[in-house]
Amino acid sequence: MKDALQRDINYMRISITDRCNYRCRYCMPEGCAKVRMEDILTYEEILQICRAAGRLGIVNYKVTGGEPLVRIGCDSFVRMLKELPDTRQVTLTTNGELLEEHLPALLAAGLDAVNISMDTLRADRFSFITGGGHLGKVQDALAAAVSSGLKTKVNCLIQKGFNEDEVEDFAAMAFEKGIAVRFIEMMPIGCGDPANGYSNAVLLDRLTAAYPGLTADDTVRGNGPAVYYHIPGQAGAVGLISALHGMFCSSCNRVRLSAQGQLKPCLCYEDAVDLKPFLADPQALEDRLREAVLRKPEQHCFGVTGAPTEHRLMAQIGG
Ligand code: 5AD
Ligand code: SF4
Repeated sequence: MKDALQRDINYMRISITDRCNYRCRYCMPEGCAKVRMEDILTYEEILQICRAAGRLGIVNYKVTGGEPLVRIGCDSFVRMLKELPDTRQVTLTTNGELLEEHLPALLAAGLDAVNISMDTLRADRFSFITGGGHLGKVQDALAAAVSSGLKTKVNCLIQKGFNEDEVEDFAAMAFEKGIAVRFIEMMPIGCGDPANGYSNAVLLDRLTAAYPGLTADDTVRGNGPAVYYHIPGQAGAVGLISALHGMFCSSCNRVRLSAQGQLKPCLCYEDAVDLKPFLADPQALEDRLREAVLRKPEQHCFGVTGAPTEHRLMAQIGG
């Protein structure tokens, strides 16, 4: 489906819960407000939306949260999404803590790829930044996912004074394991403060200093805005998701569904179309989906003083 700017919108991020078993300091530290359980869509309600979305050409789904694997039935939901008539790809974003135990069921459900968030390779730092997460569990899950043959990527947020000394370690891991590690710029969402993050241009300088053979890569490795670099003849890649400084909005192909059924045209703005009142009416759902797609803005306004940016947490809008 085309939006008002004639972009092809074929991808929906689906937040199935705002709950998370981690408390990442930049995302949802202790004491965050939660959505009421009765306001969260059932899986069948989400599938109603996806049936309408599929008819409009939105055929790729990313299941996300909060942490999607804390919601019971996530594996079966992946299977249900895969079984819809128009679905092409279903992928999952997870913090990895519960991934290893769910992996067999997710593979059996037909999951196409997984993104694991991992900001540090040091256990003490990992526990600190995630509010009690276990690096060992996530590393085991990563190893299991890679050896199962599932397409696996790691997402990493570099923060000043915290893990800035690990950029090269993450790149080494990417080349060692033959996977993609993507560096995401910190956005002013939730407790995220871009002042604590780095522009990806700075990271690229460091990466090319460490790996002089690093070459820009035009292989398509996913559905998203990452720009990849690899070493010729070697597996693995580093990716840069320049959420703040890279103006990739003009090629944005996605909309986002919150756990309560709000469809967001863009991550940056509060604007959303409430799909909940229309769940029983497939035609009305299609109309509202079209409306949201047409409302996609030309570009984000992060960094513009006084702009009407999103105030909810990343976990509530599905990152
Ligand atoms: N800016 C950028 N990325 C963020 N994430 C959470 N909050 C922010 C933020 N403010 C990322 C996590 C995880 C993904 C789901 O979203 O690091 O990789
Ligand atoms: Fe949970 Fe991801 Fe937010 Fe961390 S960044 S608290 S893992 S939703």
